[in-house]
Amino acid sequence: MGEINIKDSIINNGSEVFKETKNYLKFMMKYRCAIMEVETKLNVLNSEFSLNFNRNPIEYIKTRLKTPESIVEKMKRRGFELTLESIEENLFDIAGIRVICSFEDDIYNVANLLVNQDDITLIRMKDYVKNPKENGYRSLHLIIEVPIFLSNEKKYMKAEIQLRTIAMDFWASLDHKLRYKQDLENPDTIAGRLKECAILCMDLDKRMQDIRNQIEKK
Ligand code: GTP
Ligand code: MG
Repeated sequence: MGEINIKDSIINNGSEVFKETKNYLKFMMKYRCAIMEVETKLNVLNSEFSLNFNRNPIEYIKTRLKTPESIVEKMKRRGFELTLESIEENLFDIAGIRVICSFEDDIYNVANLLVNQDDITLIRMKDYVKNPKENGYRSLHLIIEVPIFLSNEKKYMKAEIQLRTIAMDFWASLDHKLRYKQDLENPDTIAGRLKECAILCMDLDKRMQDIRNQIEKK
């Protein structure tokens, strides 16, 4: 497939060649299609749910395609061969979909409804909601496979779906911003304070969920 093109891009130490090669464009187009398929499925579930229950389990959806720079960096870091075949086999997060839900139980409802669809295969799940990371990060991560239909082929594409509440997303966004600040004076204190905030976010999610449960019982 595109071995020479990707190697060229590294030799040129930039992404221009990488971006313009035809193979690469076709390769990325398929991931873009996978994002569209998954996003449509999520929008369908959200519409049906809001008709049935008068509220939206999904607040909003953010999608992103991994950049060529980031693909090359991750492949090199993990010591994989730089070919399109190897990228496809080893990187599961080229197509990224982030689903921001209203309440914690919506995360599991939406995830279950999606992975139970008969054309979706669940490859891997990491539950950082029930088992938060040491730094306080919470989200439900799914790696799934979804078919896309092109003019002469049906292809199964991998995508990473991250499901979170608004509070989890708020925390993760700030954590991400702070992580890239290299000149922190007291990184340990900052990490500790961020962890405290993560615990507050968890408490907030729990309280909001309790309020909703109480309202819905009426
Ligand atoms: P990656 O190489 O980062 O993809 O690691 P992985 O394959 O072990 O995936 P994992 O499911 O643990 O995390 C993947 C993604 O989750 C990251 O690319 C981030 O978007 C998000 N993530 C994971 N941990 C953190 C964290 O501590 N803080 C923030 N802000 N995001 C995180
Ligand atoms: Mg990643």
